Amino acid sequence: MTIGFYGLGIMGSRMAANLLSTDADLLIYNRTMAKATPLAEQGATIADSPEALAADSDILFTMLSTPEVVQEAATGDKGFLPFMNAQSLWVDCSTVNPSFSRQMANQASKHNVRFMDAPVAGSKAPAESGDLLFLVGGSEKDLDQCQPYFDQMGRDVIHAGEVGKGTSLKMVFNLLLGEAMAAFAEGLNLGESLGLSREMLLDILVGSPVVAPFIAGKKENIANSDYEAEFPLKWMQKDLELASESGYESNAPLPAGNVIKELFAMAKQQGMGEEDFSAIYQLLSNNDK
Ligand SMILES: NC(=O)c1ccc[n+]([C@@H]2O[C@H](COP(=O)([O-])OP(=O)(O)OC[C@H]3O[C@@H](n4cnc5c(N)ncnc54)[C@H](OP(=O)(O)O)[C@@H]3O)[C@@H](O)[C@H]2O)c1
Repeated sequence: MTIGFYGLGIMGSRMAANLLSTDADLLIYNRTMAKATPLAEQGATIADSPEALAADSDILFTMLSTPEVVQEAATGDKGFLPFMNAQSLWVDCSTVNPSFSRQMANQASKHNVRFMDAPVAGSKAPAESGDLLFLVGGSEKDLDQCQPYFDQMGRDVIHAGEVGKGTSLKMVFNLLLGEAMAAFAEGLNLGESLGLSREMLLDILVGSPVVAPFIAGKKENIANSDYEAEFPLKWMQKDLELASESGYESNAPLPAGNVIKELFAMAKQQGMGEEDFSAIYQLLSNNDK
């Protein structure tokens, strides 16, 4: 059994590293090849092209940034899809929108390739420790084949339904993630503007019922104005855009989500795109410029 892994960014490099402990051979590819070297030193084999990656993989995982990048990687000039073997399985873990996942499944079926959408909840640290939550859309049979690999990379799998349902669930997760982060930033700034100390506000609010639990993981970053990316802000804006498009396609109004999406767009325009998405606080803050 050979597992292929395409996309060795913040998430993919850590997910692929956890696959080194399975019985399967691990074949890796990344646009920026230097990022593949540490994994090769630990036992993975580097494929020298997407074609070579696809031709030798029984299951191919992709962990790429945007729908445009996934589409180019799969079906562009150097796309891997035409080189995958009949009845092999493509598992796209990238955060993309559900209608796009269904399009990719359709493209895959033209090459007799099976497809599953399996985006993840959890960031850099859970990716490293193998504690991600996989949100899966696809058949039981395909999920069964992937389960041992999901078990290495994650702590749990939710089978949300057929193709497109994994990314549907991911849209809901990240809508709530972006909204909660922006809401917290707004409240914290109000408190500071009213003369309350940031330290006191963080101590009182984080862990209280009015604040989303994940904010606990951002407390130190905000306290120290340290926004090194775990989840880059530009990807939060991308995910809110994809949620917005999904809302349009399914006739679900997203009044708060669309406003908050534009807050992240403003933060990106002001140069915060490569920072962690908690840097949205800098955009709103009177004291954290
Ligand atoms: N970071 C998180 O906390 C987190 C959590 C859950 C889900 N996600 C989602 O997971 C996906 C990956 O996120 P990440 O944080 O790992 O992003 P990242 O560090 O920016 O990695 C992006 C990956 O996409 C590749 N890529 C970008 N443009 C490309 C192109 N034109 N052609 C080929 N490859 C290209 C990059 O290759 P290079 O190395 O050559 O740039 C890299 O392998 C995104 O969809 C994100 O929304 C992220």
